[in-house]
Amino acid sequence: MKRIAIFASGTGSNAKKILEYFKTSSQVSVDLICTNKSDAGVLEIAKNFEVPSLLFEKEQFFMGDGYTPILKELKIDWIILAGFLWKIPLSLLRGWENKIINIHPALLPKYGGKGMYGNAVHSAVIQAKESVSGITIHYVDEQYDHGAVIFQAECAVVENDTPASLAQRIHALEHLHFPRVIEEVIRA
Ligand code: GRF
Repeated sequence: MKRIAIFASGTGSNAKKILEYFKTSSQVSVDLICTNKSDAGVLEIAKNFEVPSLLFEKEQFFMGDGYTPILKELKIDWIILAGFLWKIPLSLLRGWENKIINIHPALLPKYGGKGMYGNAVHSAVIQAKESVSGITIHYVDEQYDHGAVIFQAECAVVENDTPASLAQRIHALEHLHFPRVIEEVIRA
């Protein structure tokens, strides 16, 4: 059994899809949900799925051990970032080399980097009059939205799209692909 921890800062709709997908899996189990926000929606989702959760404190995350001992004790094999807004510290990058995966709501290398999350990404795509956007699933390294790309999928940007309408289309793509891509990477 491969054990994963999901890190999420927000609503957690991707986390929910991943939990649903692996609920009956005999090969992958979601053993921990981590967040940096005490009011993150993902905490409610963790409770509903009866998966333990952990609230990160800034100091321990960035300046301390990065919660490595807890994650190692739980034998976490893979870390999945599903809308997690803090930068991943070296302690975690070293502890889970090539075993941290992120999803980004645009076609990297465009529209990534610090501050590029949520509506900021979709507004920039619309403003640049792109006709196509999409999702990128990639390994995590020391730079924001920078590691090797694992998978991308595209969707159209249509006339009169708003950041909200585009976000909806992107979310649908994420929900469709992310759990399956995680499974493929873990089983490879
Ligand atoms: C997703 O769009 C993901 O690409 C980005 O953060 C968003 C998280 O959404 N990294 P949700 O909390 O899973 O609904």
